[in-house]
Amino acid sequence: MEKTRILMVCLGNICRSPLAEGIMRSKLFGRKKFEVDSAGTGGWHTGEAPDPRSIAIAKEHGLDISGQRGRQFGVNDFDRFDHIFVMDNSNYRDVIRLARNDQDKQKVSLILDAIFPGENVDVPDPYYGGTDGFANVYDMLDQACDIIKERI
Ligand code: 4NP
Repeated sequence: MEKTRILMVCLGNICRSPLAEGIMRSKLFGRKKFEVDSAGTGGWHTGEAPDPRSIAIAKEHGLDISGQRGRQFGVNDFDRFDHIFVMDNSNYRDVIRLARNDQDKQKVSLILDAIFPGENVDVPDPYYGGTDGFANVYDMLDQACDIIKERI
């Protein structure tokens, strides 16, 4: 069976992309044709669980993301995934820099393009803020994943 593979990417792979992974996975639950993963452009949090604030906001919405572990994005991910959704413009530049060809580049898009096409809107990094930031990020990602689910 040919699967559609989706990768969510942020900087640390502990705040935004683990949430995006958990949300997307829950929306595709039971649809065996899909796989969802996440990665960070940086490697500092390799092997770590998501930030406790991401785990908490996911739990409030009935999702358990505590078993996910951080890993760094690598060039092989262009071969493993069909769609690479990045959280912000900085992630976009970092991932595009690793692309080997146009086919790789075409897989990459800002996740909020689903809601605001062509407006280059970032999912704000909530790492240094309070818990409000995480609730805000959750709502944005939830909306974006609803739209993406209908399109892929
Ligand atoms: P994330 O947030 O990219 O949404 O996972 C960050 C988490 C950690 C760091 C930066 C961003 N950090 O520099 O450690």
